[in-house]
Amino acid sequence: MASVWSRRDFFGRLGWSGFGIVSLATLLAGMRSSFPRVLFKPDTTFKAGIPDDFGIGEVSEKFKKDFRVWIVRDEKGFYALYAKCTHLGCTPRWLTAENKFKCPCHGSGFYRSGVNFEGPAPRPLERVRITLTEEGELLVDVGVKYRSERGDWGKPGSYLTV
Ligand code: FES
Repeated sequence: MASVWSRRDFFGRLGWSGFGIVSLATLLAGMRSSFPRVLFKPDTTFKAGIPDDFGIGEVSEKFKKDFRVWIVRDEKGFYALYAKCTHLGCTPRWLTAENKFKCPCHGSGFYRSGVNFEGPAPRPLERVRITLTEEGELLVDVGVKYRSERGDWGKPGSYLTV
């Protein structure tokens, strides 16, 4: 025996179904907002030892593998260079004998200061923040970059005087 819905039954059920769907959607949206989307960024800082661990004139590759950073000491202090070529992002090498950084991908060359002088790289390497902790250790933050062409190399953190 076939059941026959009256027009009133049909629209009544339709209305309740719609109400149910909207209620469920509202409930799900509420639950979703209870779990905010948060991006947890990895820590970008590391301690690099005390200044005396580095010789004057040294380009240290100690932290290149783990943090992609060279620490350079000159007569007055330190700067940290980010080991990413400004052409297409390859990792250059430090060539001690030639006193320069050389990119293996397309041949860009950079002076020990990070300034580009050969090949297609359009600008100097970037520096990253280098400061001293209260305990006198070098603290490097790869998350803070300084670009020479923007005048950043004069800013605090781009160079550490010791
Ligand atoms: S990526 Fe370094 S020269 Fe092209």
